[in-house]
Amino acid sequence: MYKQLIRPILFQSDPEEIHHATFSWIKKLSKIPGFSALVKSVYQVNDPRLEREVFGLKFKNPVGLAAGFDKDAKLFNELSNFGFGFIEIGTLTPKGQEGNPKKRLFRLKEDEAIINRMGFNNGGVLEAVERLKKNNSVLIGGNIGKNKNTPNEEAVRDYEFCFEALYDYVDYFVVNVSSPNTPNLRALQDKEPLEKLLLTLQAKNNLKSKPKPILLKIAPDLTDEQLLDIIEIINSTKIAGVIATNTTLSREGLKSENKIEAGGLSGKPLTKRSTEVIRFLSEKSNRSFPIIGVGGIHSAQDALEKLNAGASLVQLYTGFIYEGPALIKKINKLLLKNK
Ligand code: FNR
Repeated sequence: MYKQLIRPILFQSDPEEIHHATFSWIKKLSKIPGFSALVKSVYQVNDPRLEREVFGLKFKNPVGLAAGFDKDAKLFNELSNFGFGFIEIGTLTPKGQEGNPKKRLFRLKEDEAIINRMGFNNGGVLEAVERLKKNNSVLIGGNIGKNKNTPNEEAVRDYEFCFEALYDYVDYFVVNVSSPNTPNLRALQDKEPLEKLLLTLQAKNNLKSKPKPILLKIAPDLTDEQLLDIIEIINSTKIAGVIATNTTLSREGLKSENKIEAGGLSGKPLTKRSTEVIRFLSEKSNRSFPIIGVGGIHSAQDALEKLNAGASLVQLYTGFIYEGPALIKKINKLLLKNK
């Protein structure tokens, strides 16, 4: 029903406007008694065989919502009704910021892809914290970044600020240094600044009575040599794991007119590369840390391939837009079938 009926309507409007309109509809509908129960009964697959224990956390199933969809933590309770095992909010920055000028989000329908150059538009971490206080027990990842105006030399402070603010309200953290839309952010993926950033956060984390898993989200555009550096850094800083991958700067093989737009590409054209990155990290590290696999999951088979390549959990964004919420159920059903 989603692809035949709902998607054609949604795809007639500007992608960013319809994103916000859909949020407001889901919010309103969820206030109607019985709506949330209906959504749960249609979409959720609850089965103990889907449960996963990863970096010390218990996930009710391995399919999560990727960062960027619910940046400001406005809809995580309602979105969890569609069957996600976890929801990652953010990327959040210390101060609220507008992001890049509109138009900044583009569908590439022929390629089943999206290009975005949002630029960490968000209301700031403190506003998100207020909303996270109303969590009905959804497992939450907190994805953190730096403000656009913060120079890279001072970036550590932005990450520390977000870490402290979110500490009591999220289950795991994601250090995002891989968005292509904040000028120079990806330079923080270089060995020296990255090690410094992760060691600082880990030191803060270790002062807590119950340290929380910290993960690093990486770009799919890293070379093998850079990926080997990442493995070394994960091992030396002892952070909990990696999210692979963010959006790509590559435009290889695209057909759609919008391919000329600047920004990060997500969706089907990313499937293969992100799985390659997962496999490389998993094999070269001898599976020494968990990986959350994300990038171009548009079918249950795509998710399975990422899990078989070494991911412990998966996340969706663009596939959720193109395939609809039934994709979560399809993945969980296939995992049960393969048990
Ligand atoms: C994203 N993504 C993203 N990632 C992140 O770490 N912080 C962010 O704020 C955002 N924002 C964002 C906005 C939009 C519009 C898109 C499409 C994507 C990246 C996302 O979490 C994911 O890593 C990639 O999109 C690849 O997965 P999919 O979309 O191919 O399933």
